[in-house]
Formats: sequence, C-alpha cells, structure tokens
Amino acid sequence: FTVDWDTGHYDTGGYEHYLLKEISEQPDTVGRTLRGRIDDRFHIAHLGGLNMDARESRSFRRVKIIGCGSAYYSGQIGAQLIEELARIPADAEPASEFRYRSPVVEADTLYIAISQSGETYDTLAAVQELKRKGGRVLGIVNTVGSAIARECDGGVYLHAGPEVSVASTKAFTSTSAAFALLALHLGRVRDLSPADGRRICDGLRRLPDQIKEMLTQEEHIRELAMRYAKDAAGMMFVGRVRGYPVAREGAQKLKEISYVHAEAYPASELKHGPLALIGPEMPTVAIVPDDELLDKNLTTLGEIRARSGRILMVGHRTTDQADDCIVVPKNETELDPILLTIPLQLFAYHAAVALGRDVDKPRNLAKSVTVE
Ligand code: AGP
Repeated sequence: FTVDWDTGHYDTGGYEHYLLKEISEQPDTVGRTLRGRIDDRFHIAHLGGLNMDARESRSFRRVKIIGCGSAYYSGQIGAQLIEELARIPADAEPASEFRYRSPVVEADTLYIAISQSGETYDTLAAVQELKRKGGRVLGIVNTVGSAIARECDGGVYLHAGPEVSVASTKAFTSTSAAFALLALHLGRVRDLSPADGRRICDGLRRLPDQIKEMLTQEEHIRELAMRYAKDAAGMMFVGRVRGYPVAREGAQKLKEISYVHAEAYPASELKHGPLALIGPEMPTVAIVPDDELLDKNLTTLGEIRARSGRILMVGHRTTDQADDCIVVPKNETELDPILLTIPLQLFAYHAAVALGRDVDKPRNLAKSVTVE
C-alpha cells in the first residue's frame, strides 16, 4: 500500500531532492536538538520534558527502547549510549515484535518510544499497551503534538523540522544526539564522573561542525556509490557493537531508496553463515571506528579479502586492507555512530540517483505507516 502526502508547504531549497536537502541540513538539525540542553557548569543535560526529578531518574534498573525501521536502529545506538554512560542495562526491540509478544512490563524499567512522525501505528500501539500495564514511557519524537508524543509520560522533542523524504536521515541523527543527551543525564545522576560528563558535552558540541566537514566529501562518496552499488548483485554491511546499528542503518538506506539488495550483520557473525555470500559481485561496507575493537575489525577485513570480496571501509583512518576508505571525523568513541552514519546516507542517495530511482518516494513505501 502507499499513502500520498502533500509536500506543497515545503520546497527542496534548491536541492535536487528533499533527501539531499535533509542530509545537508544535519549540521543545523543536530545543532537544534542539542541547543539549550547542554549544561557546561555541571556537565549534564537539561531535558525538562522528561518530567522526572533526579530521584526518579535514578530509580530505573533497566531501559527498554522500541521503534520501527530506522527509529529502531537509532534505538540500538541509544541503548549502547545508555549502557556506556549510565551503566543501566538497555536494549532496543522493534515496536511491533514487542507488542505482539505480550511483554512483561516492569515498574523499574524505563520504556522509550522513538518516532519521527509520532504516528507509526505499531509504535503507538506498543506505547498504549505499555501504558495499560502501568509502564512509564518516554517519547523521543520529532513531530510536536503527534499521537505518540501525546500518549507518552514525557520525552524529548528533536526539533529537526519536517522530514519529507520517505527515507529518514536527519531524524536518525537527531534521535541519536537526543539519546546522547538522555544517557548523559541518566549517567550524571548516577556514577558518570564530571570529567566524563565534560568529555561528552564537549564532544556533542563538536558534532555540527564535524557533520559539516563530513558533508564536504560528497563528491568522493558519489564516485564510490557509482563504483560499488550501481552494478552490485547485493551489498553486505558489517560492524561491531557501536558499528553494528550503523551498518544496519546503512543497509536500510541503500535497499530502501536504490532497491539494491543489502544485508547487515555483526562482523563477528560473518563466519557463521553469510561469509558464503562474499565474492567479487557482493562488496562489503565495513564500519570500522578507531575504538577498542579496531584490531578485530581489521581481522574481519582480512577474512573478506581472502574470499575475493571488495571492501569499502568507513572509519577514522585509511588501510591497505580495504579497497577504498571513507575517513570520518573522530569524536568521543560513544558518539562515533552519529558521524559514521552520514557517509552511508550520501552513499545510498547517490546510488539511488545513479540508478534513476524515485529517491524521495521509493516504491511500496509510505513516510508514515499508520496502519497495522
Ligand atoms: C526509514 O528510512 C524508514 N522510512 C522507516 O524505517 C521509518 O524509520 C519507520 O517507518 C519509522 O517511522 P517513524 O520514525 O515515523 O515512527
């Protein structure tokens, strides 16, 4: 099914497509998500919309995040941020799966629903089920006053502005930035040190300029998209831990708008099956940040190479073990996923343009899935 929508109120601002406009807006949109929310004195985040005092913020023993599609993948980034900064066990799950498996709703779990539109039916139904069972639910939502925002007990608005293109880009990075603020907040009312709080605050403040810097590589990425995706039988996206949700989002963007088949796997899972797919006709995009898993990731590149697989590495350095590299500005390790996502958006966009796809309205998809 498809849902028509009216884009009459917004124009492409001189860009060829809404998608490219929205990708290019990200220095501003991430900046707006962060604006007024970073406290330099105590190195915490101000999130008044949570409607929770410090005592309540300290009371949760688990965090469960739900959303659909790209919102779910940004939730995986959020879960990692919360575990790393606040040391609260956290995980993300597709909202539809969550609601259908009759989840156990616990009083000491903080539930977080993510939605750009605020109208996704599966996410809304999951929130309603949670509320029915007494769960405390926060929303990370872009659209002010939307159904999910109204249903939640509190939350964080993204302030990313309207997202028109079916493929989500700026909402994804803003959601990840909002999670960094929330994780900072939950961390600083628990055990996160002022020094680590300051480190994250400084890192967040650097993000808009680093996104701008990343966007200057568009021509290089366009050329790579032509070489890798245009004639590929399919593409593999791999990453470990922080890189894995980035890989999933990269595969999602590519398949969604270019219709090139794309699979995403944790790099460590390759040898448990998908390695059989690797060969010259199935290139791999490897997400390889400079973090504690660098050596393990480089070993994976060797395994792919040994099967004649071509490798495009997205990370913080170049290496001979990949055929091509996209070097992304380095931030604090916890915040790396946000910047690593940007080149994958541009890659998918240029692959879709090269293949002559309807970039802003891909076939069979709706911007907001308001039915079951
Ligand atoms: C993303 O590119 C997709 N169009 C899709 O996965 C989307 O993120 C999902 O449908 C959730 O939408 P929402 O954020 O509006 O709830």
